[in-house]
This record gives sequence, structure tokens and C-alpha cells, in this order.
Amino acid sequence: MDDIIENVKDYYSKQLQSKNDLKTNSCCCSEKPPAEIREIVPLIADEILDRFYGCGSPLPPLLEGMTVLDLGCGTGRDVYIASKLVGESGTVIGVDMTAEQIGTAKKYREEQSKRFGFKASNVKFLQGYIEDLKSLGIEENSVDVVISNCVINLSPAKEQVFKEIYRVLKPGGELFFSDVFADRRIPESLTTDPVLRGECLGGALYIEDFRRLMAECGWADFRYTSISGIDLGDEEIESKLGFASFSSRTVRAFKLDTLEDICEDYGQAAYYDGSIPGFPHFFDLDDHHRFFTGKPMLVCGNTASMISETRYKKAFKVIGDRSVHYGKFDGCGSDGGSELPKTGSSCC
Ligand SMILES: C[S@@+](CC[C@H](N)C(=O)[O-])C[C@H]1O[C@@H](n2cnc3c(N)ncnc32)[C@H](O)[C@@H]1O
Repeated sequence: MDDIIENVKDYYSKQLQSKNDLKTNSCCCSEKPPAEIREIVPLIADEILDRFYGCGSPLPPLLEGMTVLDLGCGTGRDVYIASKLVGESGTVIGVDMTAEQIGTAKKYREEQSKRFGFKASNVKFLQGYIEDLKSLGIEENSVDVVISNCVINLSPAKEQVFKEIYRVLKPGGELFFSDVFADRRIPESLTTDPVLRGECLGGALYIEDFRRLMAECGWADFRYTSISGIDLGDEEIESKLGFASFSSRTVRAFKLDTLEDICEDYGQAAYYDGSIPGFPHFFDLDDHHRFFTGKPMLVCGNTASMISETRYKKAFKVIGDRSVHYGKFDGCGSDGGSELPKTGSSCC
């Protein structure tokens, strides 16, 4: 376990100097971010953008005034984007274990705050482990939104990470993260290979083990918001890992004690009022719930909770409650969405 941590630190401090040094496109964003985020990216310092190793765009909407925690923030690209989105009344905390990464991130605190026109910086960076947020002073029920971009796959103690996230989130808080997943378990001899691990492939979670792990750590239901296949590209890596399919996925999960392990039908309906900035016509809660503005849609009990007991409630109206049960709600929940794609697409 310590060897994995030390190899990953070495990879992100010594082996990689910029995203051009990556051997594959697994740590490489294939998801087109919403316009609100695309407008902020040019305001971020070049050095930070050059050393961005994310595999998605885990920045959910409605962040103004929120406390956001970025796990494995690297040189801080997503922390600074979130800083602009939460505004001067919000706070963003970035955690990373690699001194070089976090050192670069810290260097730009004042500069980025000036670029955003803020009186003072609203970000802080903490050097430490995402498996132990307690020792960094992050209290339970203190964070509105946890984000993470291509990091949890690297952890040798993923169960501890998901438990820590559950602990620090406020009730109704959101976990929104992008990561690399596999369609089967990776043999142990390959999970410890420093290059495969560093490239975010060796430690990729098998999607069904991820589902089991989430349930064990308190997350009764979670949703994928996007899934893109990864082409390994590099011949040597392909020769070792070509037996598996990898995908980059963005996951949305809420800390809600009203969620059930499968979706149940209580005859509820919901509609979206079109008020989330950047989403006037529809809002995708996940890969199988597109809410068109003003159009009622039948929802299961879990979906109703996700949009009525969280910060999204200001944009949704839910009709009905759980007083009458109509049986299982088919085609929804953690396994209700898309299948793993067979081929990849990438912007890199
Ligand atoms: C693929 S990079 C992604 C960095 C950043 N999220 C981004 O999008 O540019 C992975 C980062 O996670 C950090 N990391 C990996 N395992 C960690 C752990 N267990 N605790 C804290 N940081 C970790 C590494 O130091 C590295 O900066």
C-alpha cells in the first residue's frame, strides 16, 4: 500500500512535467464541459492548464456560495474553476499528497483571485491524503460538494476514501467526480505496475465492484452522468492491458438517508423550471434523466429525493410523496443508464 502511494507521488512529481508526458489518454478529458466552465478556462494560468491531468469535467451547477472540496486537486485547475463558480461568498479546498503539485497550485492563489476580480482568495490548499481528511481538519458535515478528477483510481484504500467523503459531506451534499473504470478486475500484478498505476489504468475500479463498494460505504444509489471509452493508444500498455475495456465516467451521488438500494415507484412526478444557469431548455440529472423545462416526468422515490432534498430543489417541483407504493420502478438507478462503450473518443 505504501509502495503504491510512493510510486504515484513519484509519477506526479518526477515523471510527469506536463500533460504531454502522459503515455495514454486515460488522464485526459474527453467530456465537453458546459459553456459556463468553458468561459472560465481562459482565465486560468497556463502552467496550471499544462499540468491538468483530469479525465472529465466534474463541476456541477448551482455552486454559488457553496463549500467545495477537490480531492487530489493536482495543480488546481478545477479548484480555480470552482473558485470562480462559488464566488466570493463560497470556499474551495484542494487536497493533494504531492508537494510539487500542491506547491504549483498554491503559487497562483493571489494571481487567480485578481484575475477573477475578487477582493481576497476564496481557496485553500492542504497537503495530505484523501483517505484521511480528518487529520487535515476537515470536519464531518462541513462540505456542500465534493469533486475529484481522475484520482480515486490511484488510491490503494478506496473504501476509506468513499467513507471519508460521506463523513465530510453535509446531509443532502453532492459527490460529483470523474474517474477511470474497467469492465473487469485488473490482476494484482498489473495494479502495482508503477506506469499502469500512474496512467490511471492499473488501479481502475471494475464497475460492479464500484457499485458494491458505494453501497458498503453508505451510498445506496448513485448515477453516471457521462461515460466515454478510452483508447489505450500506447503499444506497450496495450500489450499488458488490452484484455480489458476502460472508460472515463462522471458519477453523481448524494448523501441522503432516504435513498433505497433499488428504485421504488411511489407514483411521483417532477418537473424542472429551467432556472439552472446554462441549462434553460433541459437538465440532465444523469444519463437516463433528461428533464425538459416544464415537462412533467414520472420519477422513482430516489430521484424525487435527489431533486427535492438537495440544493437542486430550487429548480424542481416534485408532485406526490411516498405514502402509496406501486412496486419496483424499472429502468432507473445505478444500473439504469448507458452500457460501456466499446470505442473511445478523446479531445487530446
Ligand atoms: C491524475 S492526477 C489529477 C490531478 C487533478 N485532479 C487534475 O485534474 O489535474 C492525480 C492527482 O492525485 C494525487 N493523488 C493521488 N493519490 C492521492 C492520495 N491518496 N491522496 C492525495 N492525493 C493523491 C496526485 O498527487 C495527483 O496530483
